[in-house]
Amino acid sequence: MWRAGSQTWYKLHHLSKAGKLCVPAINVNDSVTKQKFDNLYCCRESILDSLKKTADIMFGGKQVVVCGYGEVGKGCSAALKAMGSVVYVTEIDPICALQACMDGFRLTKLGDVVRQVDMVITCTGNKNVVVREHMDLMKNGCVVCNMGRSNTEIDVSSLRTPELVWQHVRAQVDHIIWPDGRRIVLLAEGRVLNLSSSTVPIYVLSITATTQALALIELFNAPEGRYKQDVYLLPKKLDEYVASLHLHTFDAHLTELTDEQAKYMGLSKNGPFKPSYYR
Ligand SMILES: NC(=O)c1ccc[n+]([C@@H]2O[C@H](COP(=O)([O-])OP(=O)(O)OC[C@H]3O[C@@H](n4cnc5c(N)ncnc54)[C@H](O)[C@@H]3O)[C@@H](O)[C@H]2O)c1
Repeated sequence: MWRAGSQTWYKLHHLSKAGKLCVPAINVNDSVTKQKFDNLYCCRESILDSLKKTADIMFGGKQVVVCGYGEVGKGCSAALKAMGSVVYVTEIDPICALQACMDGFRLTKLGDVVRQVDMVITCTGNKNVVVREHMDLMKNGCVVCNMGRSNTEIDVSSLRTPELVWQHVRAQVDHIIWPDGRRIVLLAEGRVLNLSSSTVPIYVLSITATTQALALIELFNAPEGRYKQDVYLLPKKLDEYVASLHLHTFDAHLTELTDEQAKYMGLSKNGPFKPSYYR
């Protein structure tokens, strides 16, 4: 069972392709319940809390660039837009880029807006998305933080040079001061901001932990030969089960398919209700 970002998925598949994966693996990160709650909804809530606690920033009218419009980026962008920030998005994938456009965000390149924005947030799972050349151009007081992969997205090591002064302001907040007096506000030294300075709601943890537990039980109980030394998704039925276990907290009531409807749709009345690729 594997709970990690999509970049880890590539590594697992690489191992599998090379015949080096010793056991079956379930990629829990890509199960819908994990992605939507841990990545999207959790980040949508915790980005604001994290920024308030660390930078004590007012969001209305601030210009923000969110790098990466996957689940984490979508959550962060939605939260900041709702607070009245002007949000720019950067993407490499045309599909996510188009989604950003349809959601009303300005798709741009970091280099094109980096001089004007008040905040830069990385959410890509990639490395060196914000590099020294970008930070050299940022305006005084620009807040730089990461909600994606720890330690890799912002090239923090490039800031540890003799001409830049580091001023530790409080926990998770450093000011990096350029020789002309201009400073950027670096949060959590480029580590994952919300994990460093906010809390993860117990509800989200419950969903993620249930997904993980069910994946382990599935692997343990699976008959010999069902899973080979390869990477699998959590069966859709189990993903749906995780969601259904959490519905009661909203006093939510599911509609049941009639026999006629189930037959018409070609579905079992107990699910799965969607194909495995459905997001
Ligand atoms: N902070 C948290 O609480 C939290 C929660 C879940 C996941 N994560 C981490 O956040 C990262 C992103 O997760 P996700 O689920 O959104 O992944 P994702 O794959 O859905 O989204 C990442 C997006 O970034 C884009 N991207 C990649 N390189 C880019 C670049 N150089 N510039 C612009 N865009 C680029 C990709 O095309 C993709 O759309 C992962 O590292 C994951 O582990 C953080």
